[in-house]
Amino acid sequence: MFIKRKKGWEIPESQATPEAVFRNRRRFLTASVGGATAIGGGAYLAFSGGDGAGATAATQVAQADPSAGFYPAPRSMRYRLDRELTEEKTATTYNNFYEFGTSKNIWQAAQKLPIRPWQVKIDGLVDKEMVLDIDDLLKKVQLEERLYRHRCVEAWSMAVPWTGFPMKALVEIANPKSSAKYVRMETFNRPDIASGMKASFYPWPYIEGLTVEEAANEMTLLATGVYGKPLPKQMGAPLRLVTPWKYGFKCVKSIVRFTFTDERPRSFWEVAQGSEYGFWANVNPKVSHPRWSQASEELIGTGGKRVPTQLYNGYGDFVAQLYTGLEQKGERLWM
Ligand code: MTE
Repeated sequence: MFIKRKKGWEIPESQATPEAVFRNRRRFLTASVGGATAIGGGAYLAFSGGDGAGATAATQVAQADPSAGFYPAPRSMRYRLDRELTEEKTATTYNNFYEFGTSKNIWQAAQKLPIRPWQVKIDGLVDKEMVLDIDDLLKKVQLEERLYRHRCVEAWSMAVPWTGFPMKALVEIANPKSSAKYVRMETFNRPDIASGMKASFYPWPYIEGLTVEEAANEMTLLATGVYGKPLPKQMGAPLRLVTPWKYGFKCVKSIVRFTFTDERPRSFWEVAQGSEYGFWANVNPKVSHPRWSQASEELIGTGGKRVPTQLYNGYGDFVAQLYTGLEQKGERLWM
């Protein structure tokens, strides 16, 4: 049963492409190719109108990525923004991806990452371990677009139109045993192409973790696309986590492995600097980072405009119940 939740932040996102436009493009795409089987060619037609000359960025993506025909996916209207979407150019050129360097300007270096073939292993406390090809996984799930706020622990934020599928669907595919309490997620390990991974003081590969309940929460998205196209490499292609009520470092990029376990995973940042970055990392404006305040955030791409930060990044109605009673048990929920 759908229950309409009234939220203070439900105002229209004027910069976003209207849902009807997305739906029409999707219909055109389906009509062009008869579904998801002839992906590359169909996407090329849909985006370029069949004109092979002067390929746009979108057609280049369509030609290079076999999943391009899945985009744009229909937008969910359940998750609304209180701000303009961040410009695509800004979100795709201001990134954290330490495998490719510690600056925000790694988008070109990240192009070295080969994203096909790409296999995802599901193991640990599951019914049956498996290895799935990313394109086979995409055929098993239903993609949708969701507009989410994205809040980095460094006190900046964006508003991003992700495309992906609820992580709950992957939990169902994995069919974990009742003894599984956590999901550990792991990024590729390729110091040969990702020069940042040669920095030995970081605990590579990048690891993150969620409880199984968090993974199955409706907000938890495994993103495969953004801005109506497949994810660019610098944003974590071909598969990344999106948990918008947590600080951005939880959103592990370019995942190759999901391990269901009864032990709480120790994440990359927790191992690197546990006093500043913990397991839960839920957004809370009242709990400062040891070195800076979390009370407000800079909206990237607006020339320095700041807005107040919201508890759980404004998503408390969806997720707060996951954490009932945990603080009383001594858990550090906010960093
Ligand atoms: N995942 C991997 N594998 N490596 C990283 O360095 N950085 C994290 C997270 N996921 C990171 C990662 C941090 S600190 C943030 S804020 C977000 O990715 C940034 O995502 P974006 O570049 O798409 O904005």
